[in-house]
Amino acid sequence: MPILFDADKKIFHIMCKDCSYMFQILKDGSLGHLYFGKRLKDNNLSYLIRYEFRGNENYKDADTQSFSLDLLPFEFSTYGTGDYRHPSFQAMLKDGSTITSFKYIGHNIFKGKKALKGLPSLYMESEDEGQTLYVELYDEVSKLKAVLQYSCFENYNVITRSIKIINEGEKDVNIKRIMSFSIDFHDNNYKMLRLSGAWARERYVHISDIYPGIQSIESTRNASSPQQNPFIALLEKNADEFNGNVYGFNLVYSGSFLAEVEVNHFNMTRVSMGINPFDFNYLLKSGEDFQSPEAVMVFSKDGLNGMSSEFHNVYRNNLLRGKYKKERRPILINNWEATYFDFNEEKILNIAREAKDLGIELFVLDDGWFGCRNDDTTSLGDWYENKEKLPLGLEHLAKKINEMGMKFGLWFEPEMISPKSELYKKHKEWCIQVADREKTQGRHQFVLDLSREDVCNYIIDTLSSIFDRVPISYVKWDMNRHMTEIGSLMLPPERQRETGHRYILGLYYILETLTNKYKDILFESCSAGGGRFDPGMLYYMPQTWTSDDTDAIERIKIQYGTSIVYPLITMGCHVSAVPNHQVGRITSIETRGNIALSGNFGYELDISKLTDKEKDIIKKQIEIYKDISDIIINGRLYRIKSPFDGNDASWIIVSEDKERAVFFYCQSLSEPNPIFKRIKLLGLDENFLYEVVETKEKYKGEQLMYAGLNLPNFNRDFESILLRFKKVD
Ligand code: DGJ
Repeated sequence: MPILFDADKKIFHIMCKDCSYMFQILKDGSLGHLYFGKRLKDNNLSYLIRYEFRGNENYKDADTQSFSLDLLPFEFSTYGTGDYRHPSFQAMLKDGSTITSFKYIGHNIFKGKKALKGLPSLYMESEDEGQTLYVELYDEVSKLKAVLQYSCFENYNVITRSIKIINEGEKDVNIKRIMSFSIDFHDNNYKMLRLSGAWARERYVHISDIYPGIQSIESTRNASSPQQNPFIALLEKNADEFNGNVYGFNLVYSGSFLAEVEVNHFNMTRVSMGINPFDFNYLLKSGEDFQSPEAVMVFSKDGLNGMSSEFHNVYRNNLLRGKYKKERRPILINNWEATYFDFNEEKILNIAREAKDLGIELFVLDDGWFGCRNDDTTSLGDWYENKEKLPLGLEHLAKKINEMGMKFGLWFEPEMISPKSELYKKHKEWCIQVADREKTQGRHQFVLDLSREDVCNYIIDTLSSIFDRVPISYVKWDMNRHMTEIGSLMLPPERQRETGHRYILGLYYILETLTNKYKDILFESCSAGGGRFDPGMLYYMPQTWTSDDTDAIERIKIQYGTSIVYPLITMGCHVSAVPNHQVGRITSIETRGNIALSGNFGYELDISKLTDKEKDIIKKQIEIYKDISDIIINGRLYRIKSPFDGNDASWIIVSEDKERAVFFYCQSLSEPNPIFKRIKLLGLDENFLYEVVETKEKYKGEQLMYAGLNLPNFNRDFESILLRFKKVD
């Protein structure tokens, strides 16, 4: 039984594969957090709650002075009655007060897991995959009910949490803060990992000590953002890549978020994550409810790698959906870095023809095919062919490409509108805006107001009419600016601060509708590269363009950082031209291929400019990808050497049966008179005999893992190897 309630001790015990999560109904009816860690057989942890006196605190029980909210670990904390840490929840009531005090009133445990209304969430396909617990709490004064929702996955060390607030009173309330979860750890013996960055350098790994007070990451951009991914991990101080306890937290949400770690004056650490309360307010009228996004919590006793593996498994099986969930995605060529806006049908067909000859399976036409779009200043919203470039239309182009034996894909940026567009002339009111304020532009564009149903339906109808007319197999869904002047002309003043969240709900509604309606189309999300790489988007679109930075050496860091949470199969990875367009670096086509082969493989360059030798290498890379793609999709990633720690980087991806593996190693700068380098591989079976496909050398698993593999002496910068290991009898 994965979820137990011990009525005597009033303890809830949630059990996953190797982890336990426990909390208790305390004597005042609130919920005290007991434990999150390695799986325990018994739930006898009541002794951990210490009802003790400390000076200068406030006490609920004036006589005994032992029940102070400031000294106890909570599961759902509120503001105003003595807990001074930032709470899970805060609302402003009709009388202007901001205090709530929730007490347990009941619970319900059932098999399986329910979807969240209007929001993406992990799913269970069968009731045997796990159980769900709803705990109901009630605040007598406000008449608000809080339903804490927990689901545990029996095959993983994964628990999801979210909260629903129901206004059962007659008066309206304003929700000021609602964290999807919060946990109070007993001590502060942790380091914090975050994935921070910017455009073109997304998800760099940062690990730092935690200290008394609040440390947080957030987005206020109404996109999950490249600046901070909605993910943090706490690593016990002795934990590293393969050892020690690690706790990972990821929010299934694509808008503004906050992840907060607060160490109080007794070294207790509160971790919470949810919609960013900054600039947020939600009016909850009598009878209405509000559902928070879901957070995914992972425990690993095997270091960061163990944590990543849990996220990868549960996301591959219980987050990604649709036809391409487990299928090899077509090897694509995208024309963006080959032509930018400067193309016509002939140029496109030439690139496609050359690509087809090399074995590429899908041609993607990027930005510039619509309206009068010849640069980035116009036409977003005018989703009809640019007749100057494509006089015969999209159907004709797609048909020609299909006739070559290739699939056809198309770029859109549906959430945006250019001030220079036909759509803007008709519908200025459709933008995110605040009346009487000048609208700030980003990349010469404004954001459409997806909190409005009419705008959402316009996007659905416009895209549907293209999908119905043109044989499209793939869509790149781009989004290239963050929001400013956040407001909606449709909403009353008291609901203006809901605009950002309502926008995200509108976006999810559009994506749910289109991905259900066009099940054969492979959708890839993109936000100026990997600016919205989050589980919310992955629920609808099973892959994301990892970064606009296509330089192989930069990509090692970006893909390594992304792999901390997200499976390799979710990352779009392309070989592009040199000198690289973002950093000017020249790397060999082999190295560019070797790094791109660890994800969803593709190309983004003008093939007609390549030498015959380079074209032969591309043919070989395509052959390799077809051979290893099942390992990329289903295999286990072991990160061996971090690019953030030195001059080289390495990883190995091992098939589920351990009979095959793909090993990658890259050295950035060559070294004079180099030392003899050797590296120990991971995850293989020590008893298997493996052959290296590339060299035909044979090694036992134990040799590779315990004695190591000799690395070549690289005498050029940016050299790399990709080796395939196959079990031989
Ligand atoms: C940003 C994307 O990340 C690029 O790949 C490309 O599609 C451009 N937008 C097009 O404007």
